[in-house]
Amino acid sequence: MTDTITKLNNKLWRIKGGTPTPFSDFTLSLEQIDKTKYPGRCADIFFGNDKEGVFKWLHYLPIYDRIFGKYVDQPIRFLEIGVFRGGSLNLWREFFGPAATIYGVDIDPACAAFDGISGQVRIGSQDDPEFLRRVVEEMGGVDVVLDDGSHVSSHQRASFEALFPLVSDGGLYVIEDLHTAYWPSYEGGLGRPGTGIEILKDQVDAMHQHYYTQGVNTSENIPQIESIQFFDSIAVVEKRTQLPRGCVMVPAPK
Ligand SMILES: C[S@@+](CC[C@H](N)C(=O)[O-])C[C@H]1O[C@@H](n2cnc3c(N)ncnc32)[C@H](O)[C@@H]1O
Repeated sequence: MTDTITKLNNKLWRIKGGTPTPFSDFTLSLEQIDKTKYPGRCADIFFGNDKEGVFKWLHYLPIYDRIFGKYVDQPIRFLEIGVFRGGSLNLWREFFGPAATIYGVDIDPACAAFDGISGQVRIGSQDDPEFLRRVVEEMGGVDVVLDDGSHVSSHQRASFEALFPLVSDGGLYVIEDLHTAYWPSYEGGLGRPGTGIEILKDQVDAMHQHYYTQGVNTSENIPQIESIQFFDSIAVVEKRTQLPRGCVMVPAPK
């Protein structure tokens, strides 16, 4: 029943939103790329890869440097949703260094073959909150989540709802390939309720809740989102308990 409703909804949004650009329109061969346009640590590791395949949008490479650069050589606990051929876990191991705890989760049992190479791999679905909680428990907590899984809106939502509360104070929750929020085949559509983009817009409201909800500006009740940063197709939600809000005149008026 839910499947039929989802299919009908997708049809409706396809009519409303027109035909989205197919993913294949953006796929390039290595020869077509001017690598000098992508300087930085992450790009160097990416283009230098000669092991398991890793598939990334090129404009993400400098963004990763900006958002993850502070974690290089730190004992960070990093969880990636979506293992695919194992190449991205190799990339993160090289990027973050040996002190990092790196886990990947994937629904595809074949990904278990990559367990223990550059990180630990656990098999399960990103829309299964119990599974995700077990993985984080095994990790001893999580500082950064990168959702590069199915890119289906309901899955992105389920993972965010399960994992964001578990992210440590000061940590990051990153969702990538958010362009699927506009593609009906991923339960997307411009302005369609419940897409990755729309749930993040809701978080923009949540981080300002003390301006419209009575009694929120207390130490027990203060919002846990410090910032939300949008790039093209990547959003970074920074989890940090906000300082109590208030404004003051300095020096005090006489
Ligand atoms: C885009 S690929 C991941 C790419 C990888 N991170 C990389 O950069 O090379 C998406 C992966 O998500 C996995 N996936 C699809 N649906 C999933 C789900 N419901 N839960 C967890 N993983 C899922 C697929 O099996 C696939 O390996």
